[in-house]
Amino acid sequence: MQKVTTVNQLRNLIRQWRKKGLSIAFVPTMGNLHSGHIKLVREAKKQADRVVVSIFVNPTQFGVGEDFENYPRTERVDEDKLTEASVDLLFLPTIFEIYPNKASTRVSVGDLAALHCGAYRMGHFDGVATVVTKLFNMVQPDIAFFGEKDFQQLAVIRNMVQDLNIPVEILGVSTEREKDGLAMSSRNGYLTVKERAIAPKLYQTLCMARDEVLQTKAFKIIEKENSALLESEGFKVDYFSICNADNLQLATENDKSLVILVAAKLGRPRLIDNITFSKK
Ligand code: PAJ
Repeated sequence: MQKVTTVNQLRNLIRQWRKKGLSIAFVPTMGNLHSGHIKLVREAKKQADRVVVSIFVNPTQFGVGEDFENYPRTERVDEDKLTEASVDLLFLPTIFEIYPNKASTRVSVGDLAALHCGAYRMGHFDGVATVVTKLFNMVQPDIAFFGEKDFQQLAVIRNMVQDLNIPVEILGVSTEREKDGLAMSSRNGYLTVKERAIAPKLYQTLCMARDEVLQTKAFKIIEKENSALLESEGFKVDYFSICNADNLQLATENDKSLVILVAAKLGRPRLIDNITFSKK
């Protein structure tokens, strides 16, 4: 695996691959890699001649009081994992390389960014959209991979490439889970042993709520009861919402393609998860 830290080095390598007519897949990450990230890499390997992974903890997507400073930075171990996964190129830029001066141009995401996580993390999705646009312009991949674990982020990116005519195909990859169902996340490391034992309830509750939706119980009651259940286990629930999977608006009884989105604090970390399903 080759490793570069500057946009110039990155572009030189990509140019050589392009001259040979090779296709390029891209997996953007913030590092502290786990099997969920590696699943994205594996999918990318299947679909392109070369795979580029970036590791960049993007300051503009963290709010005041969030964990930017403490976000786990584990580059040495990450590099080993990416080498083992046969990644071709690791892009590991400094903050100055990505934000060299006081750049004032931002990508502003529309209505979708105000819903769900956007309502609790002001400016978060604009920060994500801005850095992903910049990374797309630097790497210029044919195809890019994002996890369904961050369901709203995936929807924001899909909308963005469509709205701005960015010529990158976006592929979603299903969530990688621990054996007990907990969605893998870099922030799971913040959980205490006691909290880690409670954390799988988040996905268990999503599965229960899905079954209740399929038994045609009223959506509002399902949301309320399952939020209360999580609160009684020690979670502080930001939202537990049954939504239309395409536009992420609250679902109506007529919607067929559904997603239940949840975000809840458990001790220090805020955990997010979701479940998608179809209703007849
Ligand atoms: P990060 O949290 O490092 O995640 C990088 C990618 O891995 C995202 O597309 C995310 O959805 C995916 N991912 C995380 N956990 C996963 C799991 N358990 N199963 C499958 N995929 C998983 O998301 C970001 O970084 C940033 O916002 C980024 C897109 C890199 C922009 O800064």
